Amino acid sequence: MNDFFRLESLVMQFGGLTAVKDFSLSIEPGELVGLIGPNGAGKTTVFNMITGFLTPTSGRVLWQGEDITGLSVHQITARGIARTFQNIRLFSDMTVLENVMVSFHHKVRSRFWKAMLGLPSHGKEERRIRQESYRFLQELNLGHLADEKAGNLAYGQQRRLEIARALATYPKLLLLDEPAAGMNPQETMELADLVLEIRQKHALTIFLIEHDMKFVMGLCERIKVLDYGISIAEGTPEEIQSNPDVIKAYLGEPKHA
Ligand SMILES: Nc1ncnc2c1ncn2[C@@H]1O[C@H](COP(=O)(O)OP(=O)(O)OP(=O)(O)O)[C@@H](O)[C@H]1O
Ligand SMILES: [Mg+2]
Repeated sequence: MNDFFRLESLVMQFGGLTAVKDFSLSIEPGELVGLIGPNGAGKTTVFNMITGFLTPTSGRVLWQGEDITGLSVHQITARGIARTFQNIRLFSDMTVLENVMVSFHHKVRSRFWKAMLGLPSHGKEERRIRQESYRFLQELNLGHLADEKAGNLAYGQQRRLEIARALATYPKLLLLDEPAAGMNPQETMELADLVLEIRQKHALTIFLIEHDMKFVMGLCERIKVLDYGISIAEGTPEEIQSNPDVIKAYLGEPKHA
């Protein structure tokens, strides 16, 4: 049994709606795994249960031998799991660089916040954070935009900034929720290369949600498919593409017809 990352029978109910039913998955260190499925299938809900935004109704999230189910977002980030959001969450009035710098707060806390608020700062620490943040921006091809307001960035650039912010928490496991959404085909291709580069450079394990099938099939080594909260398939891109249940789910054939 894999002790690195394992989801055991996760269930998430919202009132009468079961958004995710009995979801289980193991991911090996260094793997790049995709999670796909039609709108409303429960994909983001799975990410929310992993990262502490939702506490599962039942089931367990196991991470490096520890049961992290129900821990806070902060505790989970501190254990090396980071994510991006389907609905981009940036501080749009802050600069691109500052958006990354904020990610360091969980490591340095009050000293850094004093610096950000313009109080007498510990110059050396702030300089280090600034430099490291800039390095993450460069990795995501955003170095030239460091001083721009985040709100002024193009959509695809904002998505890359979200990844830079996630990297600045020094994760081992990175969850990307629709990283290519709103990108043009050229940007999407470049993103695929960037994902591979950051995986290599930071020894990451990556779990990603994406609707762009070319992106998912070209990038992921293994894919899990959700439909109406139910896991309907798991396999290699080739296996998934030829799976009749998956094809049915995507073509929207009536259920139980
Ligand atoms: N906090 C919540 N409270 C109530 N219902 C929710 C909540 N979050 C999600 N849902 C519902 O759970 C179901 C799954 O939603 P989820 O966002 O996980 O789907 P998804 O697969 O990410 O879809 P999409 O591809 O559109 O992003 C949907 O019916 C959604 O309306
Ligand atoms: Mg979603």
